[in-house]
Amino acid sequence: MTANSCPFTNAMPPQRLPFSMASAPGALPLLGHAIKMLRAPQKFLASLPSHGDLVEVRMGPWRIHVLCHPELVHRVLTTDKVFDKGGPMIDRLRMLIGDGLASCPHDRHRRRRRLVQPAFQRKRLSLYADVMTEQITGVTSAWRDGQVLDLHSEMSRISTRVLAGTMFTADFCGSAIATVSPYSEMIAKDMTRRLLTPEFLRRVPTRGKRRFDRVTRDLHSAVLAMADRYRRTGTDRGDLMSMLLEARDDGDRLSDEEIFGEVVTMILAGTETVAYTLDHAFRFLARHPGVEEELHAEVDSVLNGRSATWDDLPRLGLAERILRETLRLNPNDWLVTRQTTEDTELAGRLLPAGSLVAYCGYAIHRRADLYPQPERFLPGRWENQQRLPSDGTFLAFGEGGRRCIGDVFGMVEGTLALSTIAARWRFESVRAGRLRPTLRMPCFARPKSMRAVAR
Ligand code: HEM
Repeated sequence: MTANSCPFTNAMPPQRLPFSMASAPGALPLLGHAIKMLRAPQKFLASLPSHGDLVEVRMGPWRIHVLCHPELVHRVLTTDKVFDKGGPMIDRLRMLIGDGLASCPHDRHRRRRRLVQPAFQRKRLSLYADVMTEQITGVTSAWRDGQVLDLHSEMSRISTRVLAGTMFTADFCGSAIATVSPYSEMIAKDMTRRLLTPEFLRRVPTRGKRRFDRVTRDLHSAVLAMADRYRRTGTDRGDLMSMLLEARDDGDRLSDEEIFGEVVTMILAGTETVAYTLDHAFRFLARHPGVEEELHAEVDSVLNGRSATWDDLPRLGLAERILRETLRLNPNDWLVTRQTTEDTELAGRLLPAGSLVAYCGYAIHRRADLYPQPERFLPGRWENQQRLPSDGTFLAFGEGGRRCIGDVFGMVEGTLALSTIAARWRFESVRAGRLRPTLRMPCFARPKSMRAVAR
């Protein structure tokens, strides 16, 4: 397969050199396209490639150049020195939690990534998978026949417990889960609200601000107390916290503030993302009973009612394909921004330093030239794909130097959860509200509510 060829047909998307550029139609004075985006985000985003390869969208005061051709996406995401992590949300995130791996600029990113990467090595993942299996089993075995479940709360409980358990090892696991769980939901909700509040209002001591300050302060002390406990016992437990404490770069260690920044980053990046992917997967399965039956057949033959483990993964291919297809149709992040660090040319257009550029998996994943019948939920389209493409055609985990560090972690966790649940439970009467943009980090779109009866 060549760069930018379709992963399924090997066909090249039509090249239109020079790339076409346009402004999205229907901008209102001052607000730009913000109303369209809030009212019907899916329709608006999916329409962008029909206007051009690089489409200018206006959100209030910001002009965002949205990349609608995989070749442009690939170029931007693999040139992260010029197209650096940035944009209004990222700037504010830095102000609130300092630098974390997901928010720090290019010149500090390489060091950070090198320090954190060992925690996501494959040999570590098989150990994390044991924690995943234990936590997934713990949550799902408490369900009762006929119980009405709030699916999102249940999926969040799984992903938060998995993250806490893998970040802080088995022997600290219980207390770490107790420490992190109450904060995860609040941080995701309040952080986004604070990010969207204008600077001058953010200082007003509203109830929300006081709660946010208290939550951050408490989490800060809890994380640093945990770090102290590790330092005192001094052993490498093979988990993320040990890695962060041991991490050295030319003798230089991460400071306490940097460690706190990484922990909050992992909570923000690694819990709701997995939970929403599972929510969306169950939504699709409820609408596609044929695929659901195939999944039950797969897990019945592989698991026979028990929980899924690391060793089962090679035989849980359909569960993984369901998650890939779910992420194609509903990538968690809809518009992910970059900011140019210097004047640069893109698609034949000069972008001055400081310009905002964004990739939109939602739009790219719906290009019929890349994904035939793009609106259909067809897990089978991933049948002969060993790896996820990294050529600008599949963006659920981003691409290039800032690609999701937890991509395999997230897929392993999702596959174990989906299979373990399907091995024991069927969801009846799944009621999911319409997908709505939400003021939550980092997921933009989610069903308003998700309820189901467990049988
Ligand atoms: C299905 C689950 C997940 C999805 C869809 C997802 C999606 C993404 C995306 C799209 C990015 C790139 C953002 C950009 O281009 O700016 C990203 C980055 C990141 N993700 Fe994930 N993620 C998932 C799971 C996880 C998990 C489980 C963790 C940690 C345990 C994690 C940690 C991170 C971090 C730290 C970054 C920043 C990487 C960097 O800038 O070097 N993610 N994620």
